Amino acid sequence: MSGEHAEPLDAGLIRQAMGSATWGRFAQFTVLQETDSTNSYLLRLPGKARHAHAILAEQQTGGRGRRQRSWHSPPGGNLYLSLGWNCSGCPWPLSTLPLVAGIAVSDALSRAGLQGHGIKWPNDILVRGKKLAGILVETESAGAGFATAVIGVGLNVKMPGTEDESLEKFIDRPWTDLASTLGSGGGDLNRNKLAALLLDKLMSALERFEVEGFPAFSKNWQDLDLLHGNGIRVEQGQKHIDGTARGVDADGALLLETGAPGLQAFYSGEVSVRYG
Ligand code: BTN
Repeated sequence: MSGEHAEPLDAGLIRQAMGSATWGRFAQFTVLQETDSTNSYLLRLPGKARHAHAILAEQQTGGRGRRQRSWHSPPGGNLYLSLGWNCSGCPWPLSTLPLVAGIAVSDALSRAGLQGHGIKWPNDILVRGKKLAGILVETESAGAGFATAVIGVGLNVKMPGTEDESLEKFIDRPWTDLASTLGSGGGDLNRNKLAALLLDKLMSALERFEVEGFPAFSKNWQDLDLLHGNGIRVEQGQKHIDGTARGVDADGALLLETGAPGLQAFYSGEVSVRYG
């Protein structure tokens, strides 16, 4: 992204960056100036209109994060996008899909020149301990093994108003953006090209996931897993459990060694790394 102002999101430029073969795999492509949430937008559509439908917005007025959090979505520098997918042959349950989405986003960022990033279970993309991108996967069952998944990605490319301390009101944990992470090496950051990379990787991952399931991604997960071997705390409501992270099981649950026999599996919870 060169200069002060980001180039507007533009379906034509995304198409150019993707190439027509990749572009042709999307059934619909929507670019909006503003919406409440790109995930909500897709979820409001009838089932058939969601499939392979990519949507991007310059700004979200009600961006949503995991665990009922909001996602700060100002206009002018970041990426907010969602991809809808009607899973006919996805492995059931879909609990590994959020991890697969995290791997796809990490791959796209590597292709964009980023190094040293990884995934904090289940799918926060972190670099140097700070959150760079968040992913919200929402699924709706459509009966008998069918489900619609909406995969939403918020990527901090160049956060507007970075000097403004009031940002702390909106983002309550350590975060970063691509522009400051890549420094002068990020001179060529271009949101349309980044969007093309992200959507290409997400679609390829979904297609592969439908056929091969999570086992096809488990080596990638191991390479990107930032928690593995670390002392962590899992918070669930009022209680917390401390232990050492030992990867994930076949359902994508976080495995924790706590001192009790065997490993304890967690399907949800807020994870933090314990120091000292
Ligand atoms: C998180 O880390 O809590 C997940 C954040 C997901 C944000 C993205 S932005 C595009 C899509 N639309 C939303 O409302 N949320 C996701």
